[in-house]
Amino acid sequence: MKINLKTNDQIAQMRVAGKLAAEVLEMITPCVVPGISTGELDRICHDYIVDTQKSIPANVGYNGFEKTICSSVNQVICHGIPSENRILKDGDILNIDVTVIRDGWHGDTSKMFLVGKTQPHNERLVKVTQECLYKAIEVVKPGAYLGDIGAVIQEHALKNHYSVVEDYCGHGIGQVYHEDPQVLHYGKKGIGLRLEEGLTFTIEPMINQGTKYTKVLSDGWTVETKDGRNSAQWEHTLAVTSNGVEVLTQRSEESF
Ligand code: MF3
Ligand code: CO
Ligand code: CO
Repeated sequence: MKINLKTNDQIAQMRVAGKLAAEVLEMITPCVVPGISTGELDRICHDYIVDTQKSIPANVGYNGFEKTICSSVNQVICHGIPSENRILKDGDILNIDVTVIRDGWHGDTSKMFLVGKTQPHNERLVKVTQECLYKAIEVVKPGAYLGDIGAVIQEHALKNHYSVVEDYCGHGIGQVYHEDPQVLHYGKKGIGLRLEEGLTFTIEPMINQGTKYTKVLSDGWTVETKDGRNSAQWEHTLAVTSNGVEVLTQRSEESF
């Protein structure tokens, strides 16, 4: 495992990339309505990153992925491929996950959208998953352990009778999109890597209404729940500071 701690100047660069990624999610929010396709949402995000932000959409060409966003609807856990044929309908829940590269540095973030009028059980899944991310962010500071993050997410999900996806995890991030360490969304307090100032990584819990098991569709990307029940995910890119944490992909509606 090779952990790449960042200097204050490098974190300042990541702050710029993170803000741009957050601004993509803010920009696209009013567009997420019944009747729009995920392909159209992808095009809007792509053009905004390239033409307005003068930046690079990191997902394009990443391991052969061709789109700018991952758009994961309902039972899709992550890595949903945007398509003109996937029209959002009233009641869907959608995750949009986007990563922007600016001056070589990455900002990676995702949020959930409630499309039109959604069912209370779906709203609850989305809300509890966001709480999992927020509770995890709260424990991040120098001297805490990676295991503390997984433990708090697992505890909150299980308390709400949900399951935690174990097949995908958060990750170190910087000039490399996915680098060490792996950030598991389950585990035990006090276990694993000790956090220190300059560590930059994502937390991106995927929480299921049913069982934790996953399957990858024949397109090689789309990850769905094995049981067909719904899944939610929220993601932020973080930096460990001298006395706590900075959320590099914070949106204006959020305060940490
Ligand atoms: N943004 C995802 C993550 O949170 C990775 C997407 S890779 C892609 O790590 F190729 F599917 F876009
Ligand atoms: Co992401
Ligand atoms: Co990520």
